[in-house]
Amino acid sequence: MGADVILGIETSCDETAAAVVARASDVRSSVVSSQVDIHAKYGGVVPEVASRAHVETIMPVVEEALDASGLTSSGIDAVAATHGPGLIGALLVGVSAAKAISLVWDVPFIGVNHLEAHLYAAFLEEPNLEMPLVILLVSGGHTMLILMEGHLRYRVLGHTVDDAAGEALDKVARVLDLGYPGGPAVDRLSNNGDRDAIAFPRAMANDGWNFSFSGVKTAVVNHVRKRPDVQIADVAASFQEAVADVLVMKARRAAKEYGATGLCLAGGVAANSRLREMVADAAAADGLRAFLPSRAMCTDNAAMVAAAGWWRLAADGPSGMDLGADPSLRLPVD
Ligand code: KG4
Ligand code: ZN
Repeated sequence: MGADVILGIETSCDETAAAVVARASDVRSSVVSSQVDIHAKYGGVVPEVASRAHVETIMPVVEEALDASGLTSSGIDAVAATHGPGLIGALLVGVSAAKAISLVWDVPFIGVNHLEAHLYAAFLEEPNLEMPLVILLVSGGHTMLILMEGHLRYRVLGHTVDDAAGEALDKVARVLDLGYPGGPAVDRLSNNGDRDAIAFPRAMANDGWNFSFSGVKTAVVNHVRKRPDVQIADVAASFQEAVADVLVMKARRAAKEYGATGLCLAGGVAANSRLREMVADAAAADGLRAFLPSRAMCTDNAAMVAAAGWWRLAADGPSGMDLGADPSLRLPVD
């Protein structure tokens, strides 16, 4: 039967996660233990604190995922863990745990690229996605416009030249005193605001495939400083609109230019309500399919790691035990 059932492990940032997934689409269990409460008092992720929390949580989370899957260790065919990009100390916890499990259970070990894992989240719910697909990979650390031409075959059309979309959302949320993590807070508050209230800049809107979000972030900060009595909900909604607008504008244009059959979202910011709505509307207007992974599969989780691991194992075979953690690992491109 080959390697059907994969145990996935994710520890690249502030989520300790494990999942059991069969054939990259059948999620038997997915457990995510968030460190949000631990980092909230610092206003952001503290790497040393993250590593320590991963060490404490990883094995209980793996056991919980195995229990919830209804399988025992003998039902697991391979173990996959994120080995980059991410925080070095955090990555090492997941990679070491996966290698230990691989040795003890005598199953192959697969090192997974976190960005590739985000891209495979869409396939968990729609295994037969047609390609080429234009994917917006928008997270706390990355903003990329990707053309996925086939399984494991990508072209990075554009990326951010400064802040990632999630980074800009988190920074603006801090300025607006909305707490951490900022993205979900901006999303919630925007529901009560007028997205047309303030015309924030859409940087590089008509200029190639790259993005820039530091200008709009500064514009928000300046706006709030000059008008302390402004309605914060209007600022949040107008800012969120400006960010989503450029993302969707470029994804649409890329789909047309490269003959894509669908638009797809990936990464934590893909959980954003307005961005999801805009992608769905754009796809409907342009005769494209829209693939919006469920919110739980957009933010960091291990089911997506297991899915990408299944494809990588089939294509390249297991990783060596000498594979290390690589904090600046890039998406493998053609
Ligand atoms: O993919 P992810 O969980 O971790 C990284 O790989 O970075 O993405 C985290 C990012 C954070 O910036 C967070 O604020 C953002 O995703 N995020 C959101 C929402 N949920 C999470 N941004 C906007 N709206 C949301 N609902
Ligand atoms: Zn991520």
